[in-house]
Amino acid sequence: MTRVLFVCLGNICRSPTAHAVFEHMVQQRGLSSQIMVDSAGTGDWHIGHSPDKRATATAKTRGIDMTHLRARQFTRDDFARFDYVLAMDNSNLKDMLALEPAGHTATVRLFLEFATRFTEREVPDPYYGGDEGFEYVFDLVEDASLGLIRHIQETSS
Ligand code: 4NP
Repeated sequence: MTRVLFVCLGNICRSPTAHAVFEHMVQQRGLSSQIMVDSAGTGDWHIGHSPDKRATATAKTRGIDMTHLRARQFTRDDFARFDYVLAMDNSNLKDMLALEPAGHTATVRLFLEFATRFTEREVPDPYYGGDEGFEYVFDLVEDASLGLIRHIQETSS
């Protein structure tokens, strides 16, 4: 089993979008028994909340349901519980690494390092912007999700 965790700040916009898009790709490929997906936020403001309505609406227009997701906070135990811990931006990465325990084996990276079409390496926070920001997040997430699923299929035996 390969375990993947997506991390952003609030766990209501970017990381739940990645969670839903990547999980959909895993299901489409019949890999649900081999790849486990979750998401979390470094902040605590939205614990237990549904994803932002703008993220849910954007995903729905692209055929992805994310209404079942609920926000939770990232914890230091997540380094041991997951094989890939993937941050949406450098600030999330820094906040996660401040909690990093010794001796874990997780791959801790920026999620967009797996993107192939886009050259950006950070998913911009869409929370205070307009709907187009959520469309752009979805495009970036889709690209990196394809790269990540290919990477996992190539490297896991
Ligand atoms: P996310 O977006 O990190 O992509 O979930 C945000 C959601 C909420 C806040 C910031 C970013 N907030 O400050 O409440």
